[in-house]
Order: sequence, then C-alpha cells, then structure tokens
Amino acid sequence: MQSAERRQAIIVLDFGSQYSRLITRRVRESRVYSELVPATTTLAQLQANAQLDIKGFILSGGPASVYDDQAPACDPAILASGLPVLGICYGMHLLAHQLGGHVAQNVERREYGPATVAILPGAAHYPAAFRVFEGMADTEQPVPRLPVWMSHGDSGDQLPDGFTVLARTETLPVAAIANADGLIGLQFHPEVSHTPQGNAIIRNFLFRVCGCTPGWTPDSVIETSVAQIRRLVGNERVICALSGGVDSAVAALLVHKAIGDRLTCVFVDTGCMRAGEAEQVVETFSHHLEIPLVPVDASQRFLARLADVIDPEQKRAIIGEEFIRVFEQESERLEKLTGPITFLAQGTLYPDVIESTSHDTATTAARIKTHHNVGGLPERMKFKLVEPLRTLFKDEVREIGLALGLPEEWVWRHPFPGPGLAIRIIGAVSEERLATLRIADAIVTEEIRRAGVYRQLGQAFAVLTPLQSVGVMGDGRTYANVVAVRAVTTGDFMTADWARLAPDLLARISNRIVNEVPGVNRVVYDITSKPPATIEWE
Ligand code: XMP
Repeated sequence: MQSAERRQAIIVLDFGSQYSRLITRRVRESRVYSELVPATTTLAQLQANAQLDIKGFILSGGPASVYDDQAPACDPAILASGLPVLGICYGMHLLAHQLGGHVAQNVERREYGPATVAILPGAAHYPAAFRVFEGMADTEQPVPRLPVWMSHGDSGDQLPDGFTVLARTETLPVAAIANADGLIGLQFHPEVSHTPQGNAIIRNFLFRVCGCTPGWTPDSVIETSVAQIRRLVGNERVICALSGGVDSAVAALLVHKAIGDRLTCVFVDTGCMRAGEAEQVVETFSHHLEIPLVPVDASQRFLARLADVIDPEQKRAIIGEEFIRVFEQESERLEKLTGPITFLAQGTLYPDVIESTSHDTATTAARIKTHHNVGGLPERMKFKLVEPLRTLFKDEVREIGLALGLPEEWVWRHPFPGPGLAIRIIGAVSEERLATLRIADAIVTEEIRRAGVYRQLGQAFAVLTPLQSVGVMGDGRTYANVVAVRAVTTGDFMTADWARLAPDLLARISNRIVNEVPGVNRVVYDITSKPPATIEWE
C-alpha cells in the first residue's frame, strides 16, 4: 500500500542525456512517481528521504564514454541494492563496465537514429528481468522486431557474469542485456516517441520488474501534498502572491485545502495587467473558489515610477522592486489584523528545482534578459517558504488545478510575464498607451480563442510599437500607431517558432484592431522565430 506519507518512487540518475527529464516524465505518465537526481547521488542519500519507497532505478544516457577520464559512475551500492536497475545507453555501458564486463568503443560503426531491434527467441519468456519485453514478442514470428531509436557509438562486447543478451540489431550483437536480479541494459532509448513501443517497455519495467502500482494520480498528489503542508505549517499563517497564472493559483489552492482561512492571498495590480485581468482574479478566487483574497490596486505607484522609462531592463527592475515594496507593506498591514504570518507560498515547479541543483549538464546561460524573478519575491524576505509544486511538472500542475476546481480557461492560460504590458509597450509606458494595447491584446486573444487555436499556441499577444505610420480612413489621411501581433508555438519557451496562423484569422484580427482600437491604423505580424528573436519584444 502507498500511504500519503510514503510513496513508491523510481529514481532516475542523470548522466547528462538530453532525454533524462523525459524519462522521469514517462515514468510519471504511467502513474508512478519519479525523481531526477544528479548521477553522483548515493544510495544512502536517497534512502535518507523517508517519504520515498524506492522501487527501482533508471540510469539515463549521456554523452560520455565509460573509458573517459572524467566518466561519471554510479554509486556501486545502487547496483548492489537488490533493487531493479534499467540502464539506457550510457547507463547500460555503466552497468556492464561497473559489474566487470567490457564495453567496446565502436568509433567506426556508430548507430544513430532509427534502428530495428530483434528480440532473441525465448527472451520474452524468461522470468523477472527478462519481462521488459513481455507482450512485445509476437510468437507468430521466430524473431520479433521492434523499431527503436539509437544514439550511441559504444556497445557492450563482454557481458558481466550472469547476464544474457535479450536483443540485437543487424550491426550490434548486444542491444539489450539483463540478469536474473532485475539489472537490465538497453542500447536504445525507450523514452523517445521514435521508439513506438518504448512506453510499453517502461511500463513493463515499472510494473512487471519493479512491482510498482500505479498510485501517482492527481488525487494522491493532492492528498500527499495537503498532509505535507499541514505538517510543515502547523498552526501558523501563510501568505501567497497570486500572479494570475496557473502556478501560483494551484499552489494557493493546495495550501487553502490544507489550512483553510489561515491562508491569505494577495493580488497586486501593477497597472500593467491585461483587460479584465484584475477583476477575473477577484471573481475566481473570492467568489468562485471562496479563498480569502486581498486585491491591492497599486497601479498609480507603478505608473508614476515607470513614467518616461524606455529601457526594458530598467522597466523590469522598477516593477520588480516596486512589487516587493507593495507586498511587504501589504503583509505588514495584514499581520496587524490577523497576527504573525510566517510562511510564504510559492508556485516553484520541478524544472526550476532540477535546474538549480547541480546536474552534470547544468550550464550557465548568458543573461539575455533578467527574467522570471520579476514579479516574484526575493529569498531574503523574512518568510519561510512553502512550495507545494516543487515536485511537479507544468502539465501535472494543470491536472491538479482541474481536480481542485480551477476553471479550465485559467488552467490553460498562456504564461504572462511579471512586468506585464510594460514590456509589450515599446518605449515609454503611459495610461493612454496601456489602454490602447489592452483593447488590441483582448482582440488578439478573443479571435484566437474563437478560431479554436489558443491551446495549440505557446503565447499570443499584441505589442504596441513606437512607430507611427500613414494611413487612410474614409476620405482622410491618418497618422497613427502600429500594432504588432506575435503568436508562437513552443515546447519549453527556450526556443519558439512563429505560428502559421490562418490568413483569415490574421485578417480578422487586423480588421478588428484598426476598426476598434482608437489611434491604431496599421497591424503587422511578427514572423521571427526564437532564436534569433525572443518571444517578447523587450
Ligand atoms: P523571451 O522573451 O525571453 O521569453 O523569449 C521567454 C518566456 O519568458 C517570459 N518572460 C518573462 N517572464 N518576467 C517574467 O516573469 C520577465 O521579465 C519576462 N520576460 C519574458 C515570456 O513571456 C516567455 O513566456
């Protein structure tokens, strides 16, 4: 039985493959909890976490060769733990190498990309570890074949004692190995979509080899999270800054479920919000979800400080600073009414946590924009943190939001930057220009929703450029603002492509903007990908 306090887990050791995170996600998609940890993590460190009932390990792929000087290795105690281990590519080579086998460096005959693996007769019928291929071996065929995705040059040529070959390819005599203790190596990547039966292989590992039960469901996540929040917070009070986005909303919902009205949410209106946004936050939280919410209209403070500021980084800095000041003042005011507030709830997600722990792959990216902390709160605040989403990916947060009654429209909302419309008005921000952009932006969103493509896009919005252009309306010449429309498709927001919106949709957006937004006479569509451009214009 999995209890709310102790959950079954598969630990993925990250040897630097671009797919490491994907492995973790695939395991979770099968409803088994999984964590990605640095390759050097020891068994003792993992077992120190009493909340995890570790059922098995996956060693990811990676760019190294086991004979490299700095080749990362796995804690031998993990291989000797008696728990099943699935080594993928480099992970398989490590298994072989660390257990006394030999890995050949096939410099000449590398297999990258699609390949076909032949499962050797009998492999599917062996007990225990051999069951990774169960259900895949078509007994009608003497040698069942699986299309797979390969990406490594090295391969095992001498197996450690007790291991058997389960599968081969035309060029590789050893494409999958296993022993009777549940140590399994795959030369190919089951986690990528180019291995069509990859999910079935992962599920076999989880359920047939490790003996997991599929208990990682939104309901169980909520239950565990509520128990943890209660234990952490005790009888104290919590404050949460809502941004209008999905993460802070779901964090607040979980904390509210755990401690009820000892949570107070604060929504700071910076004056740079989109049309109707502040009202919608109040309506959803105060009325629909009945969660105590304190709306703070600080727009005049923000706009006064932004007057005549043109530099985007300066806009970010001002909004960030002012946000912290308003929040501090507001929390002090609230404490006078309610008594001390000790905790701050934040919607930190698992990818942020993974990035901040030192994985071997971590790189220091050049600072293009001072991102993501803007509109967030500094760690030096006096509060202790409660971060109920720290183990969750974005799509899991969405599922939980839906399960907790957050309206669907909110759950699927595109991300909106902390500095808001201030970085979508190129040049100085004023109330007049904000009003212009709000109407244009609302038209973009409305038409995109109406066309049914909102969910396919990563972000879609209007930008108010500092350009004036000549136009003609009726019989008169106009000289008015140019609005740009930006819509992108993206997976991770690190790269993005401009969306190929249907010409009719673009035409409707353009017609409506020039007809309905006073002071705009021209609309352009941004057809630049990221890189070289960024998603936002500033
Ligand atoms: P860029 O423009 O760098 O944006 O391609 C990538 C993602 O980050 C968002 N973004 C921000 N979010 N504060 C935020 O909270 C910021 O200062 C900021 N700048 C960009 C952007 O909307 C996109 O989702």
